[in-house]
Amino acid sequence: MSKSHKTRAPGKLIFSGEHAVVYGNPAIAMAIDKFATATLSWQLDADVISFDLPDTQLLSHALITTLEQLKLTLPHGLKIKVNSDIPISCGMGSSAAIIISFIYGLTTLLGENLDLETYFQLGRDIEHLPHGCSSGTDIYLALHGGCVRFENGAAVARTIPDIPLYMVNTGKPETTTKQCVAAVTKYFKSQILLKDFAAVTNDFDWALQKNNLKHIQACIRANHKLLTHIGVVPEPIQQFIAELEKAGAAAKICGAGTIAGETAGAVLVVSERDISAIVEKYNYPMFTLTGNPHGVQVI
Ligand code: PMV
Repeated sequence: MSKSHKTRAPGKLIFSGEHAVVYGNPAIAMAIDKFATATLSWQLDADVISFDLPDTQLLSHALITTLEQLKLTLPHGLKIKVNSDIPISCGMGSSAAIIISFIYGLTTLLGENLDLETYFQLGRDIEHLPHGCSSGTDIYLALHGGCVRFENGAAVARTIPDIPLYMVNTGKPETTTKQCVAAVTKYFKSQILLKDFAAVTNDFDWALQKNNLKHIQACIRANHKLLTHIGVVPEPIQQFIAELEKAGAAAKICGAGTIAGETAGAVLVVSERDISAIVEKYNYPMFTLTGNPHGVQVI
């Protein structure tokens, strides 16, 4: 077996605009200091492809799509291992980080020199499998890193904010991103709702650029109301967020949320005050988050 080739790509959080971004509305999102790492090595003595990873279906789909779209063939068998410290299916961009770390690793191992736009289009095509219809936000951040305003498939850079951020993991949602995206389509037929989502995200963008914490929190609360309205925030999570709000924090689900069950993946909390007593009461794990300026890289 030959020397291994390692690449890693970051996960993400969405500050504002998930779901609406699928319909061309803006979203503000940031790459985080959690990663998926792909380790590839040729198996020179065999023709087999072996996987050691959390989601074999996603990776085999990524492998086939990459080879087909780029008209590439594998000269030998390949061993693929993927590790991730991004909670899986919790709204933190684990699928995109897995896809990008893998396709970047595969193509660089094959000596292909592709531009980032080609990776973006390919990654987005692959992400249609877990997302149904991907906005490309997660893929863009896994590739480029940083903090961005993302709209209609294009991104404009924003400064990585310096605000007190926490991620609370309420547990893997019962439904997938694809099911959630399909279920909320009916709401986004309303131009009024699309405008409401856009207004909150534009306001958030302004507050972020001014580094105005009170205004940022007001936008997060308004976004939470809209996400609750489209049915992706289950009752127990609404209660949890209401308690956080009472304590002066602002919180919202991050990513697709869920349309069934009692868990909703990641909840993003912006708070200057200590919220650990509330989070401990619910028995949810919590961690602080830092923005990550770097996108995918060979390590
Ligand atoms: O839950 P995640 O990490 O898969 O994020 C989904 C974000 C959506 O806006 C709901 C879908 C998308 O493609 O942007």
